[in-house]
Amino acid sequence: MKYTLGIDVGTSGTKTVLFDTNGVKITSSTIEYPLYQPKNGWAEQDPADWWNAVKGTVANVMKDSGIAKEDVAGIGISGQMHGLVMLDKDNNILRPSIIWCDQRTAEECAEIEALVGRERLIAITANPALTGFTASKIMWVKKHEPEVYAKCAHILLPKDYIRLMLTGEYATEVSDASGMQLLDVPGRCWSDEVLEKLGIDKALLGKVYESPEITGYVTEEVAGQCGLAAGTPVVGGAGDNAAAAVGMGVVADGRAFTTIGTSGVVFAHTDEITIDPAGRVHTFCCAVPGAWHVMGVTQAAGLSLRWLRDTVCTPEIAQAEGENTDPYVIMDKEAENSPIGANRLLYLPYLMGERTPHLDPDCRGCFVGLSAMHNRGDLIRSVMEGVCYSLNDCLGVLDEMGVAPADMRVCGGGGKSPLWRKMLADVFGMPTVTVTSDEGPALGVAILAMVGAGIYKSVPEACDAIVSTRTKTESDGENTARYDAFYNIYKGLYTHLKEDFGALAKL
Ligand code: XUL
Repeated sequence: MKYTLGIDVGTSGTKTVLFDTNGVKITSSTIEYPLYQPKNGWAEQDPADWWNAVKGTVANVMKDSGIAKEDVAGIGISGQMHGLVMLDKDNNILRPSIIWCDQRTAEECAEIEALVGRERLIAITANPALTGFTASKIMWVKKHEPEVYAKCAHILLPKDYIRLMLTGEYATEVSDASGMQLLDVPGRCWSDEVLEKLGIDKALLGKVYESPEITGYVTEEVAGQCGLAAGTPVVGGAGDNAAAAVGMGVVADGRAFTTIGTSGVVFAHTDEITIDPAGRVHTFCCAVPGAWHVMGVTQAAGLSLRWLRDTVCTPEIAQAEGENTDPYVIMDKEAENSPIGANRLLYLPYLMGERTPHLDPDCRGCFVGLSAMHNRGDLIRSVMEGVCYSLNDCLGVLDEMGVAPADMRVCGGGGKSPLWRKMLADVFGMPTVTVTSDEGPALGVAILAMVGAGIYKSVPEACDAIVSTRTKTESDGENTARYDAFYNIYKGLYTHLKEDFGALAKL
């Protein structure tokens, strides 16, 4: 039997999973690391933490599985998108990585649009200038830390830094590179025009591959440290959402999924490229060679509930410890005791600004309608509902673009909660579906590794063999109508508060 490894370099931790060629999980290991927020709206991580977590999880998985290292046919890497890793000529890390949810670059975004022209930028990179994307982070370092920029010899994305450490190759692949704002997304190659206008040397960037292509081989040195065989192929892999799409079988027109991880995403596959002229949702290359996807992003989805857990739900954490369960299971039960609308409490999930549909780095989270009668169950429910409303904003934009899926596959930590899946079904007004494996991104890149190793001929062929649906949660028309009444108020709140958010950010 042959196996492949899927490595997912996430925001809260790195998860490595070993699968057999039927997509069955053999073993997995996760190691967490910190997120640094030195200022309101800033978010950084240490690439050395990612690499230590990758080495540790791969070694754990190889040891626990007991399989022969020669039976690993390939490795796929996935991870958080957009993060900026800067290295000097000897591959030393020059500064902490400025990651996807960092919001410090509003000024640089305006400069990028002035240099390239907003319409031209959207035509080439399929997106307007966004604080989350890598280009504005590069421009920020250039302006604020010129001494760092002067030493910079290589710019890589988080998972591509791991590739470098594993194989010694400076490379990326189209799905993750799409989120740098330096790629010609229709043409699937670096854009000389954007690079030239922004004054970024193409030599700083890695070679661009399609996601299932082999990009390099595990080096002798690393093989010894991780229990791998030297020469094991490493394929392109994919950004976490494009990878999750493969792991969920969302690889053909008409298919879509929602993930509730740290961020939340509504993602739909498209064989032909389609771009929102207002830039409210992203168009990226997907992991199926020659195809694209559109996706809307809620910046703080699971992050909102984690924030509530860590700041407010101390009793639930203690109870969970006593019952040897997860605090989220207790929180779900309390939320279930609160009715639809959480006793008239609305939550705006803008803890880290918002992308779809507002593209506003300055907005922040709110509870609206707090009353002395509200308890923690109401707070939990309103956070979960607010995330669903924000994801419904994403679905609304896809709908306007003519992308209309019949059902919605669901994954991510939040997708494990039956209550959250039911809320999503009712708010979206369509069934939510889970698939056989809940390993989304890790399975997705393990499948890409199977294709790269020649075990399957194509990504869709591999998905047909490996991914099938498991549960279906129907939506209920009456509930949808009740949620709609709250959603309509939710939709107006951002507009009412927009100016105040801007003023608050300036203080
Ligand atoms: C996508 C995005 C997030 C990150 C972190 O554009 O920023 O989904 O990839 O998961």
